[in-house]
Amino acid sequence: MVNFKVEISKLIAEQVADLTAEEIQSMIEVPQDTKMGDYAFPCFKLAKTLRKAPPLIAKGIAEAISGNTMFAKVEQVNAYVNMFISRESFVGDVVTSVLTEGAEFGKTNLGNGSNVVVDFSSPNIAKPFHIGHIRSTVIGNAISKIYRALGYNVIGVNHLGDYGTQFGKMIVAYRHWGNREDVINEPIKTLLEYYTKFHVEAESHPELEDEARETFAKLEAGAPEEKELWQWFRDESLKEFNRVYDLLGITFESYAGESFYSDKMPAVIQEMRDKNLLVPSQGAEIVELSQFGLTDAPVIKSDGSSIYITRDIAAAKYRMDTYHFVKDIYVVASQQNLHFQQLKRIIELMGYEWTKDIVHVPFGLVSLEEGTMSTRHGRVVFLEDVLNKAIEETRKIIQEKGVATDNIEETAKMVGVGAVVFNELSNNRIKDYVFSWNKVLDFNGETGPYVQYTYARCASVLRNAGEEAAAKAADPSAVKAEYLTSESAYQLARLLYQLPEIIIDAGDKYEPSIVTRHIVDIAQGFNRFYHDEHILVDNEEEKTAKLALVLAAKTAIRNGLALLGMDAPERM
Ligand code: ARG
Repeated sequence: MVNFKVEISKLIAEQVADLTAEEIQSMIEVPQDTKMGDYAFPCFKLAKTLRKAPPLIAKGIAEAISGNTMFAKVEQVNAYVNMFISRESFVGDVVTSVLTEGAEFGKTNLGNGSNVVVDFSSPNIAKPFHIGHIRSTVIGNAISKIYRALGYNVIGVNHLGDYGTQFGKMIVAYRHWGNREDVINEPIKTLLEYYTKFHVEAESHPELEDEARETFAKLEAGAPEEKELWQWFRDESLKEFNRVYDLLGITFESYAGESFYSDKMPAVIQEMRDKNLLVPSQGAEIVELSQFGLTDAPVIKSDGSSIYITRDIAAAKYRMDTYHFVKDIYVVASQQNLHFQQLKRIIELMGYEWTKDIVHVPFGLVSLEEGTMSTRHGRVVFLEDVLNKAIEETRKIIQEKGVATDNIEETAKMVGVGAVVFNELSNNRIKDYVFSWNKVLDFNGETGPYVQYTYARCASVLRNAGEEAAAKAADPSAVKAEYLTSESAYQLARLLYQLPEIIIDAGDKYEPSIVTRHIVDIAQGFNRFYHDEHILVDNEEEKTAKLALVLAAKTAIRNGLALLGMDAPERM
């Protein structure tokens, strides 16, 4: 695609000897008001060296470049050169590029294949995978895909919470009151019951706590029976998590969770000791962080066992040694802000400059309309139930509305799950939000179903045109852009043109909602075009050109949705 800023900079550079094309590029503005042109070049800075009044300089430049076919018009207004890109050449270039690039449209190669680790989802074994987890899972998946589109090699890591003293408790509880069948039938619910029961019983039988500690110590030492039980709990929990990942179409490159680092911890602890970072404190050992204005971080418990943060220190080092990452991104709730500040500082104290490449991407809380979630009060909503309910509700809507589909089940799944995902990625990630069914499944608002419906509409226009016409429209070399100069065609093309930049911006800010909002804009832009224009006209050339724009919009929507982890139905 033509980068107009770059081309304009080259043109102006020929006129202004003192500035390089790069310097000029950084000065070019995109006016808020399109009446001032698509691009504007301010000439104030040139007055000194050229010893001329800025408006005069602007006039000279405007006259010199106005003959270029890229422009419909070039005007001097005060100190500005205002440039209006020719609609025809602009839309023609955009549509040709999108059709040529196809599934690649929107991608760039900023990353050049370098490695980025994205730590996301990372639920805790034997704990419910509830609606709160959807955020890390869905935002992390989108960030992974956005970084891939930017040319990075992404390693998605599910840093499972599969280790720690709670497993001692669970094993003890299972041995006292457990039942194999129950665990197999409903692993998470059952294991959670054991865990709760352990705490109730331990109040009157404190010796249970000692038993749990010993059991965890055995597990850490690799005792076969304890290890086997732990492994089994882990496998059964993962089966349940995987059902959710399957529904969402999410995969990971690595499942190296906390337990993976158990044998890597001693070396890391030794290293911290050698570097004089460990300070005894009430039987435990801590890293002092007051110089950074942070709370000190305990890294070894009084019984010698490791802690969540110790395993994260080991994990960060392992990831550096294994992947030589340029970024190690953690998509984790803002409740853990302190944890990641501590982690970064400890790595810094260990002398590793790459601590600057550790990025915590926090997000706000989800609550339910009836109040915050609470496991203890039974106010917990399982993510799997939410997804299944969304599919169920969507199936009902499809049937009631008599929506045309090839396969109700498949479409209901695509749209239902997509609705939940899209909703999740619509708001700024840091904002807390309230989960509302009405909002999620609204087919008319700025929702997933609306965008998918628009996609299906593009597909239907192309189908109705017939195979031959659709094939002609798909040929990038044949676009006759003179038929695509109406306001709505032009505005739609502008939105398509922006997509690659939007993806870069979303990556820089770790903010998938920037992509989500832009896809809504494209969908609205397409619907305006569809509403304003008669597409299947008699004039063959005009029809082909318009269908090419439809196909370009369809491609952009599909590529955008793919970045969010969503599919798009051909019929709906
Ligand atoms: N398991 C943790 C939790 O559910 C999240 C882990 C995030 N990743 C990390 N490397 N600490 O709170």
